[in-house]
Amino acid sequence: MSAVDMFSQETSKFASLEALINALKQMKDDPLANAGTNVVISRGNPEAKLLLIGEAPGPEENVRGKPFVGRAGQLLDKILQAANFDPEKDVYITNSVFRMPPGEEGKAFRKPTDQEIEYYRPYVFEMIRLIDPRVILLTGNVACQSVLRKTGITSLRGKWSQLGGRWVMPIYHPSYLLRNPARDPGSPKAQMWDDIREVRKKYDELTAQN
Ligand code: URA
Repeated sequence: MSAVDMFSQETSKFASLEALINALKQMKDDPLANAGTNVVISRGNPEAKLLLIGEAPGPEENVRGKPFVGRAGQLLDKILQAANFDPEKDVYITNSVFRMPPGEEGKAFRKPTDQEIEYYRPYVFEMIRLIDPRVILLTGNVACQSVLRKTGITSLRGKWSQLGGRWVMPIYHPSYLLRNPARDPGSPKAQMWDDIREVRKKYDELTAQN
């Protein structure tokens, strides 16, 4: 099933964003329900025309109850601000998985499994429907897997596709940029700068129309 088909099938489950958020907060049968980590849902402006979808909360997010508030989140805010987006006013920020998957062998967390991504996907699509953004940014492979059912961020990044009338662009995950800090031409950081400028352009075009 394509992402667009899935989008139309997943509509009308929740009457409002508030109802969706309440359902997520009360989730008891999700695959991470017994992981001992907290439900972390979103931050930003629910009226925003730009929706950003990340991977899963990390340790800092698990404690503070908001997505992208650790080191990766600080870098994400700087990237958005560099393109003149106010992270609290112009963007709504959420994740593909709503609890931190706990790590093994001394690690605080691990990557979400395919099964976890699948489980939370309908909620992610409900979030898209209820926020009703014009532009969706998918940070990293997990968000691409959730929304586009595709991975391969180095080839997907910077390319627009359309999903139910919305514009979607995969971009690097800020954690990847923290691990690859070089700024020379062709580096992930330079590519991110190209991508976010494209996003600004598309956002301006779309929001100027009405
Ligand atoms: N990385 C994510 O993908 N999401 C967060 O909320 C924090 C770090």
